[in-house]
Amino acid sequence: MAKDETTVSERVTTQAAFSIGPYEVSDELRPRIDELGLGDAVEHFRKHGYAIIREASPPSLMDELREAIHTLSKKSEDDDRGVRESAVLLLGRHPAVDRVATLPKIMAFAEFSVGKAMRGGRFVGSIKRDGDDGLNLHADQNWIPTPFPEHNLLVTFCFACEGMTEAGGSTCVVPESHLMRRTPTADEVDGAQSVPIETEKGDVAVWDGAIWHGSYPRKIPGTRTVLHATYQRLYTQPIDDFTYLLKDEAYMATAPEGMRQLLGADLFFHTATPEQDTDMEKFAYAVAASKL
Ligand SMILES: [Fe+2]
Repeated sequence: MAKDETTVSERVTTQAAFSIGPYEVSDELRPRIDELGLGDAVEHFRKHGYAIIREASPPSLMDELREAIHTLSKKSEDDDRGVRESAVLLLGRHPAVDRVATLPKIMAFAEFSVGKAMRGGRFVGSIKRDGDDGLNLHADQNWIPTPFPEHNLLVTFCFACEGMTEAGGSTCVVPESHLMRRTPTADEVDGAQSVPIETEKGDVAVWDGAIWHGSYPRKIPGTRTVLHATYQRLYTQPIDDFTYLLKDEAYMATAPEGMRQLLGADLFFHTATPEQDTDMEKFAYAVAASKL
């Protein structure tokens, strides 16, 4: 029987036997990682739990993103975080957001970190001004029971539209804390030694779902305008629901390549109906993609 004549169940059985290990790059992805010059960032991420992807975006696109975030942000206040200036659910609401979310270096790095069938989770813009507080250390996948699985479940990209410095309220990380595979204790939140992630405009910081990180207060004039974009492994529930975009034909017709991936268009979830059971072609794709 020719390869393309195998049944879905035969393909599923064959594919289920193989999986790459945690933090490995699949043979399928390796050429893209090399072509995009991401090898050093991948190595740094694997060892330290975070990395800086240099020149991930044209600086002009960061200007457009900054404008979008400043236009769409609203002020809010809560007991935990005080006054915040932010915009949530940004995917599909501004072309600049969609373009940065699907940049080639971002899509390739997300695939490395959370797998071939990864989906978009959160797209949140925020503005930090002179005098604004920092954020306590935490792990982004903090609703996952510990010990965290060895395969990373969630990866966060931080697009700092103006670049970011320690004095300007940059992100901070506790290098290699992802190896603990748990959230920090209260003592560690106060006492763990963090280092700043400083970036130039157009660079993108990226960190593992298990790494302990936070941010510093801003002590200088001006703004730190960032988009936090989160991508999740196939089997985790995306934090925010953007699937309504798949039903918007006019939007999908002009959406960037990569948007179907972020929205899980090829996955088998929710495909069963009273008349027709789960889409088995999509199931077979998920079985294969979940191992890469
Ligand atoms: Fe975080």
